[in-house]
Amino acid sequence: MCCYVSVSLTIMRRILIANLLLRQSSLFLRNPRYHASLTAGHRRVCARNFCRKSSSEDTNMDLSNMRKKYKGDEDCFEESQLVSLDPITQFGNWFDQATKCPEVGEANAMCIATATKDGRPSARMVLLKGYSNEGFRFFSNYESRKGSELESNPHACLVFYWEPLNRQIRIEGNVERIPFQSSCDYFHSRPKSSQIGAVVSRQSTPVPNRDYLRQKNAELEEKYKDTDVPMPDYWGGYIVKPSLIEFWQGQTNRLHDRIVFTRPKDGETELGEFQHAAEGGWVYQRQSP
Ligand SMILES: Cc1cc2nc3c(=O)[nH]c(=O)nc-3n(C[C@H](O)[C@H](O)[C@H](O)COP(=O)(O)O)c2cc1C
Repeated sequence: MCCYVSVSLTIMRRILIANLLLRQSSLFLRNPRYHASLTAGHRRVCARNFCRKSSSEDTNMDLSNMRKKYKGDEDCFEESQLVSLDPITQFGNWFDQATKCPEVGEANAMCIATATKDGRPSARMVLLKGYSNEGFRFFSNYESRKGSELESNPHACLVFYWEPLNRQIRIEGNVERIPFQSSCDYFHSRPKSSQIGAVVSRQSTPVPNRDYLRQKNAELEEKYKDTDVPMPDYWGGYIVKPSLIEFWQGQTNRLHDRIVFTRPKDGETELGEFQHAAEGGWVYQRQSP
């Protein structure tokens, strides 16, 4: 009986997977935009992987042929194209271009990597909410996983990737909480539903189910229907104070451009090999891709 049920389940699962793949492939093939955007190599890989997936239960996708064309040598990024030797101004220039690029959905979305005290990393996306010479600001829950990692190890790395522009920016630095009042100002500038959402969510802690969150949300909506939502003390902003900012632009031949700005350590006065003085106490150099 047990064996019979398990065989039936396996057959049902196979039928479901085959159905899903058929549906996906017909949707995909009917959409000429997707089809046209793929190279012949991509199409071969896709076809091969669809076949492989439907004939095998364990997933083993070969993606070795998956690659996109980046920029040609005529569109490379040379030192002479830096709009400024101040990397924050240079960041602003690339960031503006990303916000104006219609194919970039959320230019201020960035990946932030943190690590535990003993160096175990974790990463996730957050939204950049401001930048200045001081650093790069984002908001979160101080008791979340990232929050507790930053508490014991206040270093982070941010990565922006604007795929349609073939550009990546990496920023490394120490992280500090921003002043309470600045967090409060931002908190109350958000839509009321987001303020309530922040109170509802004890980010990164387990909950029994979605209904639990729905119910808590409804209770708080009722509670604060005629009053301001107080900012919870476990929520607020951070600033990443940069010590390294790297500008990367992709080249089809993989000779990518990498211009890296760093802040010399205390007492370091000599420029290193291939290093150049920049503005605001920064130095920069080109790195091998
Ligand atoms: C595009 C995008 C933007 C996000 N923005 C934020 C944000 O600004 N702050 C935040 O706390 N979480 C944000 N999140 C959710 C985080 O990725 C993450 O799930 C959450 O912060 C919990 O992470 P942690 O458990 O590692 O601390 C965003 C997710 C995505 C995909």
